[in-house]
Amino acid sequence: MATVAVIGAGQMGSGIAQTAAQYGHDVMLSDVDIAISQKGKAGIEAALGKLIKRDKMTAADATALLARITPIGDYAPMVDAEIIVEAATEREEVKHRIFESAVKVLAPTAILASNTSSIPITRMAARVPDPSRFIGMHFFNPVPVMGLIEVIPGLPTSAETTARARAFAESMEKEVVLAGDEPGFVVNRILVPMLNEAIFVLGSGMGSIVDIDKGCHIGLNHPMGPLTLADFVGLDTLFEIIKVLHETTGDSKYRPAPLLVKYVEAGWIGRKVGRGFYDYTGEKPVPTR
Ligand code: 3HC
Repeated sequence: MATVAVIGAGQMGSGIAQTAAQYGHDVMLSDVDIAISQKGKAGIEAALGKLIKRDKMTAADATALLARITPIGDYAPMVDAEIIVEAATEREEVKHRIFESAVKVLAPTAILASNTSSIPITRMAARVPDPSRFIGMHFFNPVPVMGLIEVIPGLPTSAETTARARAFAESMEKEVVLAGDEPGFVVNRILVPMLNEAIFVLGSGMGSIVDIDKGCHIGLNHPMGPLTLADFVGLDTLFEIIKVLHETTGDSKYRPAPLLVKYVEAGWIGRKVGRGFYDYTGEKPVPTR
């Protein structure tokens, strides 16, 4: 079992911390201050509470899992980490600042993994002292449930780092796909334009929120319609990813849907704030258009 540091205690970071701890790893959960790290751990506790209620987990297992997660407020304890997984906001400068601080304390053998959904791994790796230990590990939301991790070696990533990242993913019973370090990697290169297109379709008046979602949910057998999924991923995150695809490829087919931009400008960024394409404040989600 490894000692893992997860940086970012939001939706993805908490899910990664929960999953790693579930499989016996010791986890440090970090965010900009310890109160946010603690809030992340409280969120995990609440998720486990639901599993206990539904007889999916015993209270003893939940207690043991939680005991393996230590919220931290500064990077000093990360000296013990064998792997750090950065799951902060999808903004390149934020990620650079995190790695810049982390490398000052990390052991010289630690792996630096980023859960970026779209930022080039090679470019991020170039900013750390030993790029051979830098790699992308792209998790899917909700992390404890989704069975896949994309592992993305950058140009300078060593074969040993790739093997260690894969072993870490497999220790959590995740399937691994190796993805090239190209914009969006494999899965988001396909998913994000589809979600963006669904928003174009909505904006053009071709279909209602409910019908667009119903069409894909039933017609394509997707577990969620694209607008529900967009709210679930977070419209801010989606916007950042589609911008990266647009800017890095220069291809106009990746331009953000104007209605996506409007929702982000309004702060209606999805389920995490209670409103996106649906309003989540009541018993059931209600379409907002
Ligand atoms: N921890 C552990 N288990 C959890 C959990 C948690 N936090 N939350 C839910 N679960 C478990 C439930 O106990 C349940 O288990 P069971 O199947 O054994 O009963 C199972 O997950 C399903 O949960 P629910 O019954 O509550 O909900 P649904 O059946 O409606 O499924 C869903 C929810 C799994 C989210 C499903 O709707 C789904 O697969 N949606 C698509 C999700 C998706 O596409 N994710 C990828 C997004 S893209 C991404 O993340 C990349 C990024 O870069 C953009």
